[in-house]
Amino acid sequence: MKWFTILILAIVIALTILAALPFASGHAEDETSPIFGVKIPAGYRDWRLISVAHEEGSLNDLRAILGNDVAIRAAREGKPPFPDGTIIARLAWNYDPLEESSKAFGHLQSFVAGPPKNGVQFMVKDSSKYASTGGWGFAQFNDGKPADAAVQNTCFPCHAIVKARDFVFNRYSP
Ligand code: HEC
Repeated sequence: MKWFTILILAIVIALTILAALPFASGHAEDETSPIFGVKIPAGYRDWRLISVAHEEGSLNDLRAILGNDVAIRAAREGKPPFPDGTIIARLAWNYDPLEESSKAFGHLQSFVAGPPKNGVQFMVKDSSKYASTGGWGFAQFNDGKPADAAVQNTCFPCHAIVKARDFVFNRYSP
């Protein structure tokens, strides 16, 4: 009955691993941001693309603006305001030269996304909860942890520049 012992052992090991899984990530992603109380939305990295952007100067990055289904639908229609339930994510990466492109083109020509930049940002629409900030909750996470309140307080005043577009700078790129 050796096979039986092995089977039991395998089941015990599998159950132990399963039970430990929720703790493996260290729970960093569960932390709520100050002021707006936003958590990192599950699966946001697989959301669809609203647009891309490139910041020059000290930021010097490439970025992607992603939206959940509600956001994508509204962004495509292009008629703000965004409905409650909208979440827009902003990811950024180093703006890096692709060395191999010198061989491909005869000179350095291609610039691509390098390692991810710290600071994933989210805008969450809830017109009653966030009534005092145009209906949007703003959040930035560094290394999966919410940035401090001082950082979260910078968002709304700057996004207020595009109040006419419901505080969202990027337009949908078809
Ligand atoms: C100094 C002005 C400024 C501040 C401060 C700022 N943003 Fe933005 N944000 C922008 C601009 C300009 C864009 C569009 C260009 C781009 O995508 O980088 C943008 C884009 C975004 C986007 C994509 C949706 C959109 O509006 O196009 C999100 C999400 C976002 N910001 C969240 C935040 C959060 C969260 C904070 C605070 C932690 C913040 N922003 C602080 C200027 C600002």
